[in-house]
Amino acid sequence: MQDNLRINGDRLSQRLQELAQIGRIAGDGVCRLALSDEDRAGRDRVVGWMRDLGLAVKIDTIGNVVGVRAGREDGPPVMTGSHIDTVRTGGRYDGTLGVLAGLEVIATLNDAEITTKRPVAVAFFTNEEGSRFQPDMFGSLVYTGELPLAVALATKGIDGLTAGDELTRIGYAGPEPVGQPRAHAYVELHVEQGPVLEAGGFRIGAVEGVQGISWSEFTLTGQSNHAGTTPMRMRKDAGYVAAKIAVFARKLAKEIGGYQVATVGALTMSPNLVNVVPNHVVMTVDLRNTDEARLQEAERRLFAYADEIAAAEGVGLTRRTLARFAPVAFTPNLVDRVEAIAKDFGLPVKRLPSGAGHDAQIMAAVCPACMIFVPSVGGISHNVEEYTAPADLAAGADVLLRLVLELAE
Ligand code: GLV
Ligand code: MN
Ligand code: MN
Repeated sequence: MQDNLRINGDRLSQRLQELAQIGRIAGDGVCRLALSDEDRAGRDRVVGWMRDLGLAVKIDTIGNVVGVRAGREDGPPVMTGSHIDTVRTGGRYDGTLGVLAGLEVIATLNDAEITTKRPVAVAFFTNEEGSRFQPDMFGSLVYTGELPLAVALATKGIDGLTAGDELTRIGYAGPEPVGQPRAHAYVELHVEQGPVLEAGGFRIGAVEGVQGISWSEFTLTGQSNHAGTTPMRMRKDAGYVAAKIAVFARKLAKEIGGYQVATVGALTMSPNLVNVVPNHVVMTVDLRNTDEARLQEAERRLFAYADEIAAAEGVGLTRRTLARFAPVAFTPNLVDRVEAIAKDFGLPVKRLPSGAGHDAQIMAAVCPACMIFVPSVGGISHNVEEYTAPADLAAGADVLLRLVLELAE
Protein backbone atom coordinates (compact mmCIF):
# COMPACT_ATOMS: atom_id res chain seq x y z
CA MET A 1 0.00 0.00 0.00
CA GLN A 2 1.32 3.43 -0.96
CA ASP A 3 0.85 5.04 2.47
CA ASN A 4 2.83 8.16 1.66
CA LEU A 5 0.96 9.01 -1.50
CA ARG A 6 -0.85 12.37 -1.37
CA ILE A 7 -2.97 14.26 -3.88
CA ASN A 8 -1.95 17.66 -5.31
CA GLY A 9 -4.15 20.23 -3.54
CA ASP A 10 -3.20 23.07 -5.89
CA ARG A 11 -4.20 21.06 -8.96
CA LEU A 12 -7.52 20.15 -7.30
CA SER A 13 -8.25 23.79 -6.40
CA GLN A 14 -7.26 24.87 -9.91
CA ARG A 15 -9.80 22.53 -11.52
CA LEU A 16 -12.49 23.59 -9.02
CA GLN A 17 -11.92 27.23 -9.89
CA GLU A 18 -11.93 26.50 -13.60
CA LEU A 19 -15.20 24.56 -13.50
CA ALA A 20 -16.74 27.32 -11.34
CA GLN A 21 -16.33 29.72 -14.30
CA ILE A 22 -18.92 27.72 -16.24
CA GLY A 23 -22.34 29.05 -15.26
CA ARG A 24 -20.73 31.58 -12.93
CA ILE A 25 -23.19 33.99 -11.31
CA ALA A 26 -22.81 37.11 -9.17
CA GLY A 27 -21.09 36.59 -5.84
CA ASP A 28 -18.81 33.81 -7.14
CA GLY A 29 -21.65 31.32 -7.26
CA VAL A 30 -22.66 28.86 -9.96
CA CYS A 31 -25.86 28.13 -11.86
CA ARG A 32 -25.67 24.89 -13.82
CA LEU A 33 -29.21 23.55 -13.64
CA ALA A 34 -29.44 19.96 -14.87
CA LEU A 35 -29.42 19.52 -18.66
CA SER A 36 -29.07 23.27 -19.31
CA ASP A 37 -26.50 24.80 -21.68
CA GLU A 38 -24.29 25.48 -18.66
CA ASP A 39 -24.55 21.84 -17.56
CA ARG A 40 -23.52 20.82 -21.08
CA ALA A 41 -20.49 23.11 -20.99
CA GLY A 42 -19.51 21.79 -17.55
CA ARG A 43 -19.92 18.20 -18.76
CA ASP A 44 -17.76 18.91 -21.82
CA ARG A 45 -15.01 20.29 -19.60
CA VAL A 46 -15.03 17.35 -17.18
CA VAL A 47 -15.20 14.79 -20.00
CA GLY A 48 -12.22 16.57 -21.60
CA TRP A 49 -10.27 16.21 -18.35
CA MET A 50 -11.26 12.55 -18.10
CA ARG A 51 -9.91 11.89 -21.59
CA ASP A 52 -6.70 13.85 -20.86
CA LEU A 53 -6.18 11.60 -17.85
CA GLY A 54 -6.56 8.52 -20.05
CA LEU A 55 -9.94 7.39 -18.74
CA ALA A 56 -12.32 5.40 -20.95
CA VAL A 57 -15.44 7.59 -20.93
CA LYS A 58 -18.84 5.88 -20.90
CA ILE A 59 -22.09 7.84 -21.19
CA ASP A 60 -25.37 6.04 -20.52
CA THR A 61 -28.87 6.68 -21.81
CA ILE A 62 -29.77 8.97 -18.87
CA GLY A 63 -26.55 10.96 -19.32
CA ASN A 64 -24.56 9.60 -16.38
CA VAL A 65 -20.86 9.81 -17.23
CA VAL A 66 -18.30 7.30 -15.95
CA GLY A 67 -14.57 7.51 -16.69
CA VAL A 68 -12.80 4.21 -16.09
CA ARG A 69 -9.09 3.63 -15.40
CA ALA A 70 -8.08 0.05 -16.13
CA GLY A 71 -6.76 -2.18 -13.37
CA ARG A 72 -4.44 -5.19 -13.44
CA GLU A 73 -7.59 -7.30 -13.52
CA ASP A 74 -10.97 -6.77 -15.18
CA GLY A 75 -14.16 -6.54 -13.16
CA PRO A 76 -16.32 -3.90 -11.52
CA PRO A 77 -14.35 -0.72 -10.70
CA VAL A 78 -14.07 1.01 -7.37
CA MET A 79 -16.20 4.04 -8.14
CA THR A 80 -16.05 7.57 -6.80
CA GLY A 81 -17.74 10.77 -7.97
CA SER A 82 -20.79 12.94 -7.36
CA HIS A 83 -22.59 15.49 -9.57
CA ILE A 84 -21.81 18.71 -11.43
CA ASP A 85 -25.33 20.11 -11.74
CA THR A 86 -26.21 22.84 -9.22
CA VAL A 87 -29.23 24.58 -7.77
CA ARG A 88 -29.98 27.93 -9.44
CA THR A 89 -28.09 29.83 -6.75
CA GLY A 90 -25.40 27.26 -6.04
CA GLY A 91 -21.84 27.36 -4.78
CA ARG A 92 -18.56 26.08 -6.19
CA TYR A 93 -18.14 22.87 -4.19
CA ASP A 94 -21.47 21.05 -3.84
CA GLY A 95 -21.01 17.97 -6.04
CA THR A 96 -18.08 19.26 -8.07
CA LEU A 97 -15.67 18.52 -5.21
CA GLY A 98 -16.51 14.81 -5.34
CA VAL A 99 -16.06 14.63 -9.10
CA LEU A 100 -12.89 16.69 -9.32
CA ALA A 101 -11.32 15.02 -6.26
CA GLY A 102 -11.98 11.77 -8.12
CA LEU A 103 -10.05 13.12 -11.09
CA GLU A 104 -7.30 14.24 -8.72
CA VAL A 105 -7.09 10.67 -7.37
CA ILE A 106 -6.67 9.45 -10.95
CA ALA A 107 -4.03 12.11 -11.73
CA THR A 108 -2.12 11.10 -8.58
CA LEU A 109 -2.20 7.42 -9.54
CA ASN A 110 -1.05 8.33 -13.05
CA ASP A 111 1.86 10.43 -11.73
CA ALA A 112 2.96 7.63 -9.40
CA GLU A 113 2.54 5.09 -12.20
CA ILE A 114 0.40 2.88 -9.98
CA THR A 115 -1.85 0.28 -11.55
CA THR A 116 -4.39 -0.95 -9.04
CA LYS A 117 -5.73 -4.49 -9.06
CA ARG A 118 -9.32 -3.43 -9.70
CA PRO A 119 -10.23 -0.65 -12.14
CA VAL A 120 -10.99 2.78 -10.61
CA ALA A 121 -13.82 4.91 -11.99
CA VAL A 122 -14.97 8.51 -11.59
CA ALA A 123 -18.67 9.18 -12.19
CA PHE A 124 -20.94 12.17 -12.38
CA PHE A 125 -24.65 11.50 -12.24
CA THR A 126 -27.40 13.40 -14.05
CA ASN A 127 -29.67 15.78 -12.13
CA GLU A 128 -28.58 15.11 -8.57
CA GLU A 129 -30.00 18.40 -7.35
CA GLY A 130 -33.58 17.98 -8.44
CA SER A 131 -34.05 21.73 -8.65
CA ARG A 132 -35.17 21.54 -12.27
CA PHE A 133 -36.43 17.95 -12.56
CA GLN A 134 -37.87 15.91 -9.68
CA PRO A 135 -37.05 13.62 -8.06
CA ASP A 136 -33.52 14.62 -7.18
CA MET A 137 -30.73 12.07 -7.73
CA PHE A 138 -32.56 10.77 -10.74
CA GLY A 139 -29.46 9.79 -12.69
CA SER A 140 -28.29 7.45 -9.94
CA LEU A 141 -31.87 6.21 -9.40
CA VAL A 142 -32.00 5.13 -13.04
CA TYR A 143 -28.50 3.63 -12.78
CA THR A 144 -29.58 1.41 -9.87
CA GLY A 145 -32.91 0.52 -11.49
CA GLU A 146 -35.03 2.22 -8.82
CA LEU A 147 -36.50 4.66 -11.34
CA PRO A 148 -37.48 3.41 -14.82
CA LEU A 149 -35.52 5.11 -17.61
CA ALA A 150 -38.73 5.95 -19.50
CA VAL A 151 -40.19 7.71 -16.45
CA ALA A 152 -37.04 9.78 -15.96
CA LEU A 153 -36.89 10.73 -19.65
CA ALA A 154 -40.56 11.81 -19.61
CA THR A 155 -40.13 14.02 -16.52
CA LYS A 156 -41.19 17.63 -17.03
CA GLY A 157 -39.00 20.31 -15.48
CA ILE A 158 -40.00 23.52 -13.73
CA ASP A 159 -39.80 25.22 -17.14
CA GLY A 160 -42.16 22.71 -18.75
CA LEU A 161 -39.39 21.12 -20.83
CA THR A 162 -38.88 17.36 -20.82
CA ALA A 163 -35.73 15.74 -19.43
CA GLY A 164 -35.34 13.37 -22.39
CA ASP A 165 -35.59 16.21 -24.92
CA GLU A 166 -33.13 18.32 -22.98
CA LEU A 167 -30.71 15.41 -22.63
CA THR A 168 -30.75 14.89 -26.40
CA ARG A 169 -30.49 18.63 -27.07
CA ILE A 170 -27.29 18.93 -25.01
CA GLY A 171 -25.84 15.81 -26.65
CA TYR A 172 -25.63 13.62 -23.54
CA ALA A 173 -28.14 10.86 -24.32
CA GLY A 174 -25.35 8.29 -24.45
CA PRO A 175 -25.18 4.81 -25.96
CA GLU A 176 -24.30 2.77 -22.84
CA PRO A 177 -26.98 0.77 -21.04
CA VAL A 178 -27.88 2.20 -17.63
CA GLY A 179 -26.38 0.41 -14.64
CA GLN A 180 -23.02 -0.12 -16.37
CA PRO A 181 -20.32 -0.38 -15.34
CA ARG A 182 -21.39 -2.02 -12.09
CA ALA A 183 -19.41 -0.78 -9.10
CA HIS A 184 -17.35 -2.89 -6.69
CA ALA A 185 -17.88 -0.12 -4.11
CA TYR A 186 -18.80 3.57 -4.19
CA VAL A 187 -17.09 6.32 -2.15
CA GLU A 188 -18.19 9.96 -2.44
CA LEU A 189 -16.37 13.01 -1.08
CA HIS A 190 -18.65 16.01 -0.48
CA VAL A 191 -18.75 19.25 1.47
CA GLU A 192 -20.80 18.85 4.65
CA GLN A 193 -23.17 21.71 3.73
CA GLY A 194 -23.97 22.09 7.42
CA PRO A 195 -22.33 23.55 10.54
CA VAL A 196 -21.36 20.47 12.58
CA LEU A 197 -17.74 19.83 11.52
CA GLU A 198 -16.63 23.44 11.64
CA ALA A 199 -18.31 24.09 14.98
CA GLY A 200 -16.53 21.13 16.58
CA GLY A 201 -13.14 21.81 14.98
CA PHE A 202 -13.32 18.59 12.91
CA ARG A 203 -11.57 18.31 9.53
CA ILE A 204 -13.25 15.11 8.28
CA GLY A 205 -16.74 13.68 8.62
CA ALA A 206 -17.26 9.91 8.49
CA VAL A 207 -20.82 9.88 7.20
CA GLU A 208 -22.94 7.16 8.79
CA GLY A 209 -25.95 7.61 6.54
CA VAL A 210 -28.40 10.04 4.96
CA GLN A 211 -31.63 11.19 6.50
CA GLY A 212 -35.02 10.49 4.93
CA ILE A 213 -36.39 13.05 2.48
CA SER A 214 -40.02 13.85 1.66
CA TRP A 215 -40.86 16.46 -1.00
CA SER A 216 -44.53 17.42 -1.56
CA GLU A 217 -46.16 19.91 -3.87
CA PHE A 218 -49.52 21.43 -2.87
CA THR A 219 -51.83 23.09 -5.38
CA LEU A 220 -54.43 25.33 -3.75
CA THR A 221 -57.43 26.59 -5.68
CA GLY A 222 -59.59 29.36 -4.24
CA GLN A 223 -61.44 32.27 -5.77
CA SER A 224 -59.92 35.57 -6.85
CA ASN A 225 -61.97 38.54 -5.80
CA HIS A 226 -61.76 42.20 -4.93
CA ALA A 227 -59.46 42.88 -1.96
CA GLY A 228 -61.55 45.86 -0.85
CA THR A 229 -65.09 44.63 -1.23
CA THR A 230 -64.92 40.96 -0.26
CA PRO A 231 -65.79 40.47 3.42
CA MET A 232 -63.32 38.29 5.28
CA ARG A 233 -65.97 35.62 5.94
CA MET A 234 -66.67 35.27 2.19
CA ARG A 235 -63.11 34.70 1.03
CA LYS A 236 -61.61 31.60 -0.52
CA ASP A 237 -58.06 32.83 -0.14
CA ALA A 238 -55.45 30.38 -1.44
CA GLY A 239 -52.64 32.68 -0.23
CA TYR A 240 -53.91 32.56 3.33
CA VAL A 241 -54.04 28.76 3.28
CA ALA A 242 -50.47 28.64 1.90
CA ALA A 243 -49.25 30.91 4.68
CA LYS A 244 -50.94 28.74 7.33
CA ILE A 245 -49.33 25.59 5.88
CA ALA A 246 -45.90 27.24 5.84
CA VAL A 247 -46.17 28.37 9.47
CA PHE A 248 -47.50 24.96 10.53
CA ALA A 249 -44.56 23.17 8.85
CA ARG A 250 -42.12 25.31 10.80
CA LYS A 251 -43.91 24.72 14.12
CA LEU A 252 -44.18 21.01 13.41
CA ALA A 253 -40.43 20.67 12.88
CA LYS A 254 -39.72 22.42 16.17
CA GLU A 255 -42.26 20.30 17.99
CA ILE A 256 -40.97 16.97 16.66
CA GLY A 257 -37.45 18.20 17.38
CA GLY A 258 -34.23 16.20 16.95
CA TYR A 259 -33.18 16.03 13.31
CA GLN A 260 -36.63 17.05 11.97
CA VAL A 261 -36.48 19.94 9.50
CA ALA A 262 -39.15 21.52 7.29
CA THR A 263 -38.80 24.01 4.44
CA VAL A 264 -41.24 25.79 2.15
CA GLY A 265 -38.79 26.54 -0.65
CA ALA A 266 -41.02 27.34 -3.61
CA LEU A 267 -44.30 29.22 -3.69
CA THR A 268 -46.03 30.85 -6.63
CA MET A 269 -49.22 32.78 -6.19
CA SER A 270 -51.71 34.00 -8.77
CA PRO A 271 -52.70 36.47 -9.87
CA ASN A 272 -50.06 37.97 -7.51
CA LEU A 273 -51.54 41.46 -7.41
CA VAL A 274 -51.84 43.87 -4.51
CA ASN A 275 -55.62 44.24 -4.66
CA VAL A 276 -56.79 40.77 -5.64
CA VAL A 277 -57.50 37.84 -3.31
CA PRO A 278 -55.22 35.04 -4.63
CA ASN A 279 -57.06 32.15 -6.24
CA HIS A 280 -54.16 29.85 -7.02
CA VAL A 281 -51.00 28.77 -5.20
CA VAL A 282 -48.45 26.08 -5.98
CA MET A 283 -46.06 25.46 -3.09
CA THR A 284 -43.55 22.84 -1.99
CA VAL A 285 -42.73 21.41 1.43
CA ASP A 286 -39.42 19.60 2.07
CA LEU A 287 -39.49 17.43 5.22
CA ARG A 288 -36.44 15.47 6.42
CA ASN A 289 -35.56 13.28 9.39
CA THR A 290 -32.98 10.60 10.17
CA ASP A 291 -35.82 8.60 11.77
CA GLU A 292 -38.34 7.13 9.32
CA ALA A 293 -41.14 6.83 11.90
CA ARG A 294 -40.81 10.50 12.86
CA LEU A 295 -40.67 11.52 9.22
CA GLN A 296 -43.92 9.63 8.60
CA GLU A 297 -45.45 11.34 11.62
CA ALA A 298 -44.42 14.74 10.20
CA GLU A 299 -46.00 13.88 6.84
CA ARG A 300 -49.20 12.63 8.44
CA ARG A 301 -49.64 15.71 10.61
CA LEU A 302 -48.74 18.18 7.84
CA PHE A 303 -51.08 16.60 5.30
CA ALA A 304 -53.97 16.43 7.80
CA TYR A 305 -53.49 20.07 8.79
CA ALA A 306 -53.31 21.21 5.15
CA ASP A 307 -56.56 19.38 4.30
CA GLU A 308 -58.29 20.84 7.34
CA ILE A 309 -57.22 24.46 6.84
CA ALA A 310 -58.02 24.36 3.10
CA ALA A 311 -61.49 22.91 3.74
CA ALA A 312 -62.21 25.55 6.39
CA GLU A 313 -61.39 28.31 3.86
CA GLY A 314 -63.33 26.66 1.02
CA VAL A 315 -60.11 26.22 -0.93
CA GLY A 316 -59.45 23.10 -3.02
CA LEU A 317 -56.23 21.21 -2.33
CA THR A 318 -54.35 18.58 -4.29
CA ARG A 319 -51.03 17.09 -3.25
CA ARG A 320 -48.31 15.40 -5.29
CA THR A 321 -45.18 13.62 -4.04
CA LEU A 322 -42.10 15.01 -5.82
CA ALA A 323 -39.54 12.81 -4.05
CA ARG A 324 -39.52 10.32 -1.18
CA PHE A 325 -36.46 8.57 0.22
CA ALA A 326 -36.22 6.56 3.43
CA PRO A 327 -33.14 7.11 5.60
CA VAL A 328 -30.10 5.14 4.38
CA ALA A 329 -27.23 3.69 6.43
CA PHE A 330 -23.80 3.43 4.78
CA THR A 331 -21.70 0.25 4.92
CA PRO A 332 -20.41 0.09 8.53
CA ASN A 333 -16.90 -1.16 7.80
CA LEU A 334 -16.40 1.57 5.17
CA VAL A 335 -17.54 4.24 7.64
CA ASP A 336 -15.02 2.77 10.08
CA ARG A 337 -12.29 2.96 7.43
CA VAL A 338 -13.00 6.66 6.77
CA GLU A 339 -12.71 7.33 10.48
CA ALA A 340 -9.51 5.26 10.84
CA ILE A 341 -7.80 6.79 7.80
CA ALA A 342 -8.56 10.31 9.03
CA LYS A 343 -7.09 9.45 12.44
CA ASP A 344 -4.07 7.97 10.72
CA PHE A 345 -3.56 11.29 8.93
CA GLY A 346 -3.91 13.17 12.23
CA LEU A 347 -7.17 14.76 11.07
CA PRO A 348 -9.85 15.32 13.74
CA VAL A 349 -12.82 13.25 12.56
CA LYS A 350 -16.47 12.97 13.56
CA ARG A 351 -19.11 10.41 12.64
CA LEU A 352 -22.33 12.14 11.59
CA PRO A 353 -25.46 11.73 9.44
CA SER A 354 -25.89 13.70 6.22
CA GLY A 355 -28.65 16.28 6.11
CA ALA A 356 -28.48 16.58 2.33
CA GLY A 357 -29.36 13.96 -0.25
CA HIS A 358 -26.51 12.37 -2.24
CA ASP A 359 -25.99 9.88 -5.07
CA ALA A 360 -24.12 7.69 -2.55
CA GLN A 361 -27.39 6.93 -0.75
CA ILE A 362 -28.82 5.59 -4.00
CA MET A 363 -25.66 3.64 -4.85
CA ALA A 364 -25.82 2.04 -1.37
CA ALA A 365 -28.66 -0.15 -2.70
CA VAL A 366 -26.35 -1.91 -5.18
CA CYS A 367 -22.85 -1.94 -3.64
CA PRO A 368 -20.96 -1.11 -0.44
CA ALA A 369 -21.02 2.70 -0.17
CA CYS A 370 -19.86 5.51 2.07
CA MET A 371 -19.14 9.23 2.13
CA ILE A 372 -16.41 11.53 3.36
CA PHE A 373 -17.33 15.08 4.42
CA VAL A 374 -15.15 18.17 4.74
CA PRO A 375 -16.25 21.31 6.64
CA SER A 376 -18.39 24.03 5.10
CA VAL A 377 -17.51 27.47 6.45
CA GLY A 378 -20.47 28.85 8.38
CA GLY A 379 -22.45 25.74 7.41
CA ILE A 380 -23.52 27.63 4.26
CA SER A 381 -24.57 25.74 1.12
CA HIS A 382 -27.07 26.02 -1.74
CA ASN A 383 -25.80 29.59 -1.61
CA VAL A 384 -23.20 31.43 -3.71
CA GLU A 385 -21.13 31.95 -0.55
CA GLU A 386 -20.50 28.23 -0.02
CA TYR A 387 -16.82 27.86 0.94
CA THR A 388 -14.40 25.19 2.09
CA ALA A 389 -10.75 26.00 2.80
CA PRO A 390 -8.26 24.56 0.27
CA ALA A 391 -6.45 22.62 3.02
CA ASP A 392 -9.72 20.88 3.92
CA LEU A 393 -10.50 20.09 0.26
CA ALA A 394 -7.06 18.48 0.00
CA ALA A 395 -7.43 16.60 3.30
CA GLY A 396 -10.73 15.11 2.12
CA ALA A 397 -9.21 14.13 -1.22
CA ASP A 398 -6.29 12.45 0.58
CA VAL A 399 -8.69 10.35 2.65
CA LEU A 400 -10.54 9.51 -0.58
CA LEU A 401 -7.29 8.50 -2.30
CA ARG A 402 -6.31 6.20 0.56
CA LEU A 403 -9.71 4.51 0.73
CA VAL A 404 -9.95 4.08 -3.05
CA LEU A 405 -6.48 2.51 -3.04
CA GLU A 406 -7.47 0.12 -0.24
CA LEU A 407 -10.65 -0.91 -2.02
CA ALA A 408 -8.91 -1.30 -5.37
CA GLU A 409 -6.24 -3.66 -3.99
C1 GLV B 1 -29.75 17.95 -2.62
O1 GLV B 1 -28.81 18.77 -2.64
C2 GLV B 1 -30.67 18.03 -1.51
O2 GLV B 1 -30.38 17.41 -0.46
O3 GLV B 1 -31.64 18.78 -1.61
MN1 MN C 1 -24.46 17.70 -3.70
MN1 MN D 1 -26.96 20.30 -3.56
